[in-house]
Amino acid sequence: MKIKSLIRTIPDYPKPGIQFRDITTLLKDAEGLRLTIDQLAARYRDQTIAKVVGIESRGFIVGAALAYQLGVGFVPVRKRGKLPGEVLGHDYALEYGTDRVEIHTDAIAPGERVLLVDDLIATGGTAEAAVMLIRQLGGEVTECAFIVDLPDLGGMKRLAALGLKAYALCEFE
Ligand code: PRP
Ligand code: HPA
Repeated sequence: MKIKSLIRTIPDYPKPGIQFRDITTLLKDAEGLRLTIDQLAARYRDQTIAKVVGIESRGFIVGAALAYQLGVGFVPVRKRGKLPGEVLGHDYALEYGTDRVEIHTDAIAPGERVLLVDDLIATGGTAEAAVMLIRQLGGEVTECAFIVDLPDLGGMKRLAALGLKAYALCEFE
């Protein structure tokens, strides 16, 4: 409850009618940040995770702190054209048009158990694209973790349909 109460809602951002759940107010609160990372770390500590994969850009903040706490490495999934080495890419549909996420081809070894992390799941399109990349590299996605789930947008169900477990610290209707 403490975590949810520290997330701010900005009406009509980025466009009219959208209630934007803004985690910057959670991140700037020392206790809120610690609670967030500690709660996730407690859930994954005994799951023999090999890597945490975080999705650009807010997933980097949560993912890197969580990887540090779990004592494992961090791997970024980035928007197109940002990673310098050899990459694998996956296109996914947006409301209008498409976007692309990429991962370094040597970021994950076949068989590694991977925890996928982002700040928020809405439609699940971004997380699904990241899962496709991890699976193509031979990684096993043990679970997908988020601070916020927007259940009305169906992302968790979409991940479940892919045979994935998913978890969020709080929900906003
Ligand atoms: C937001 C959020 C997730 C994604 C969720 O990122 O941080 O990555 O959208 O939406 P989905 O479940 O419908 O795919 P955004 O694309 O705004 O990028 P940013 O973190 O770089 O601002
Ligand atoms: N907050 C942050 N990111 C998002 C949101 C939101 O409400 N909806 C889709 N991506």
